Amino acid sequence: MTQFQINLHEAIYSLSDALDLVGVTHIHHGKRVAFMAAECGKWLKWPKAQLDDLFQAAILHDSGVSKTAVHAKLAQLEWELEGEHCEIGACLLESCALLRPLAPIVRHHHTHWTKLQNLDLPPEIKRCANCIYLVDRVDVLTLKYVTSGTDILLGKDDIREQILSRRGDWFCPELVDAFMALSESEAFWFMLESDHVNGYVATWLAETRQQGMAFEDLSSLMHIFSSIVDAKSQFTKEHSDGVASLARYLGEHLQLSEERCDMLELAGLLHDIGKLRVPDELLEKTGPLSEVEKRIMSRHSFDTYNILCNIKGLEKVALWAAQHHERVNGTGYPYHTREGAISLEARIIAVADVFQALAQRRPYREAMTPEDILLILHQQVLDGKLDAGVVTCVADNLQACWRAAMQVMPNTGPMALS
Ligand SMILES: [Fe+2]
Ligand SMILES: [Fe+2]
Ligand SMILES: [Fe+2]
Repeated sequence: MTQFQINLHEAIYSLSDALDLVGVTHIHHGKRVAFMAAECGKWLKWPKAQLDDLFQAAILHDSGVSKTAVHAKLAQLEWELEGEHCEIGACLLESCALLRPLAPIVRHHHTHWTKLQNLDLPPEIKRCANCIYLVDRVDVLTLKYVTSGTDILLGKDDIREQILSRRGDWFCPELVDAFMALSESEAFWFMLESDHVNGYVATWLAETRQQGMAFEDLSSLMHIFSSIVDAKSQFTKEHSDGVASLARYLGEHLQLSEERCDMLELAGLLHDIGKLRVPDELLEKTGPLSEVEKRIMSRHSFDTYNILCNIKGLEKVALWAAQHHERVNGTGYPYHTREGAISLEARIIAVADVFQALAQRRPYREAMTPEDILLILHQQVLDGKLDAGVVTCVADNLQACWRAAMQVMPNTGPMALS
């Protein structure tokens, strides 16, 4: 099994940049929440290990939100069904062994203290969850000042009052006291500005270290982020999983090493992560996209690269993922890279992406059969877009490719292919 040298915190931090993109207008929410939560925890002299968990959970607390429409609701102080995104986020974290300990914190980051204090959970989990709840609401309260361009210091007293009025009810008293003490200074509020909060997170990150990570752990971590992307639209459900599994299948058939196949699988999982920035309406649109909409849509592979390129140890994965819309004849995007400059792995991801997308229903067309998909792939080879060798491999193993792309286990799938 391949061992990757990765800094878990760095990976989480980079991928959280992608979650930030969902905000579109209210970016860096996760980081501001992490900064404020960590400062409250430090004020209360919580142990370092607890602060680390608090910081990571704060960065990831809104993992259950991939739709821009749901993100807009986060800006309200309270809303019906707010528990839903907590539960989705917690379930996602539970699916990854490395992040499982953070799941209960995320699950309760909107639970009122009056209820939370009586739940059967370790006290440090309750404190972390409620700390995130408190500072998360602070960040929401700052929004109207930020978006209207009003000096945040003019809103400081009102925000502090609103938090204080919920002491002992929504929020744990000692957390409210810590926040009240910290937020007295102007510096606390200045730190919420993007440059400063980014710097704070980067400093925190600099104190963490690279660690050996088994492929299995890394892939379950990346799976969290691919699920968030795929959940943006009912039409793209499991698209990334399918691309990952088909890319791996093709890599194995083309005799790539196990390490490269592992990396191909990761690139498949992450190739569309930049789509988190694309508004839901565009992904769900039934008619053709306008020129402007096409431009918004087609920058996603560029955003994918920028999210992944900062994770040391995953440089190649970042490149292969970023090139999934490049075409052999240079007509792809966003770099217009040509033939020799597109690695075999990137060409595999490109074929797997087209195949999987055609095998799924889209708002503007029905799902295609494996045979129809192959006709299109052949045409794209003739047009100089897709790699001939990779498509030949698909043609030689058509049904197996379809099963890999649709994640259907042989003989157990919903549709037996003749
Ligand atoms: Fe939040
Ligand atoms: Fe894409
Ligand atoms: Fe894709």
